[in-house]
Amino acid sequence: MPEVTASALILAAGEGTRMKSATPKVLHSILGKSMVERVLDALPVTKATVVVVGSGREAVENELARVAPSVSTVFQEERGGTGHATRLAMSAFAELADDDVILVLGSDTPLLRRESIAAFITQSLGFAAAVMTAHVPQPFGYGRIIRDANHEFTAITEEKDASEAEREISEINSGIYLFQKGALSSALAQLSRNNAQGEEYLTDVLSILRGEGKPVAAFSIADFREILGVNDRGQLSECGDILRNRINDELMKAGVTIVDPASTWVEEGVEIASDVTLLPGTWLTGSTKIFSGAVIGPRTSLHSCTVESGAKVSESTCDQAYIGEGASVGPYTYLRPGTVLGPRAKAGAFVEIKNSTIGPDSKVPHLSYVGDAQIGEGSNIGAATVFVNYDGVEKHRTQIGDHVRIGSDTMLVAPVTIGDGAYTAAGSVITEDVPAGAMGVGRAKQRNVLEWVLRKRPGSKSADAASRARE
Ligand code: UD1
Ligand code: CA
Repeated sequence: MPEVTASALILAAGEGTRMKSATPKVLHSILGKSMVERVLDALPVTKATVVVVGSGREAVENELARVAPSVSTVFQEERGGTGHATRLAMSAFAELADDDVILVLGSDTPLLRRESIAAFITQSLGFAAAVMTAHVPQPFGYGRIIRDANHEFTAITEEKDASEAEREISEINSGIYLFQKGALSSALAQLSRNNAQGEEYLTDVLSILRGEGKPVAAFSIADFREILGVNDRGQLSECGDILRNRINDELMKAGVTIVDPASTWVEEGVEIASDVTLLPGTWLTGSTKIFSGAVIGPRTSLHSCTVESGAKVSESTCDQAYIGEGASVGPYTYLRPGTVLGPRAKAGAFVEIKNSTIGPDSKVPHLSYVGDAQIGEGSNIGAATVFVNYDGVEKHRTQIGDHVRIGSDTMLVAPVTIGDGAYTAAGSVITEDVPAGAMGVGRAKQRNVLEWVLRKRPGSKSADAASRARE
């Protein structure tokens, strides 16, 4: 990754009014990362990074402390505009020399790529100021790039200050700049609020420097989608769309089958081998790793899970679970943290498992809760079995050996151990250990009260059916 010796200033004090949210705009997230984290990740700078905070200051500072503890912040109490925010931040760069460069950018452009910023910095070295521009199909709302007859940059005009002719210009200001520190400081001191928004515009710095005969440049980026800004929820989802496709395209190039990219969301930290198939409605987050031949989905979310080769997970929600080679999960299964499924193990329909190991070839096929258990290999847990692990105060463990057969609807009241090859009778409440090879029976003996329905429910459909059966 190209690295350049530059400092960075991120402007993040704005209210984000158009988001209509209690959460500061820059903390809204796309595919698991806040916008400000995405901007920070894309910075190829090696010197100090400073962030101007204002609206939602405390929450923004907490996020910065979490994702980039080395950045420092400057507080902008009143929103006096992008120029005002930059001017306030200059004290944080006091140690820089006049010809050191500072990259300035907003915090609401989450699609920027590191390579593009690095290339822009390299192009811009030697200029007193440079701006990254883009030709966009819908320039409404952006500052327009004004060029003279020789196509030289002259100024940036904001939408609200632009003439009708200027509004026709499709080359816009991305809000990403590189400045020489000395030139920036001297121009910031000359900003006025004499414009439609009554703010100090950072964009005016470029025309001021150009007026002084200093070298100023505007470089346009090839793919305008990288600099799309988020000002409202519609743009937030558009950026999510673009980012999702970007990630899915990479995965498909690397040999992953994605049946429906539009409904498949994969965060950047996820690793997927070639020949994995992702079915529609798949949501993969955190540090999830999926090995070759696995099939995930439809409608499945995996958070920080490992799925080994050839395993299948369908219609399920799994969090921090390990799914062994050739294992099968779903449909409608919930695997919680600490679940380990051995090779070829099965967690079937309406099964919830947490903090438990299911050994190789063992099965929990239907309607069960398994908590705090260790199950050996080749064992079968009958339908509707519950591992009763909680006595209301503490959690206890259940141990199940190899080739055990737990009868349907068994309550295994922990702590309890079922030995190798043992069985339990269906409907048992097992409170004591069952030795290897034994059948554990823990239920009342059945008795039939003959003729009860005929006596107690005469004339009912049941009684009629019973009478017919006796004829
Ligand atoms: C700005 C540019 C516009 C450009 C667009 C690109 C100016 C005057 N206009 O417009 O030319 O096309 O970005 O997206 O610069 N901020 C502060 N303090 C303030 C005001 C803003 O920190 O007092 C921050 C915001 O949090 C945001 C960034 O500066 O991250 C840009 O502000 P915003 O209000 O979004 O500017 P735009 O109107 O989009
Ligand atoms: Ca903006």
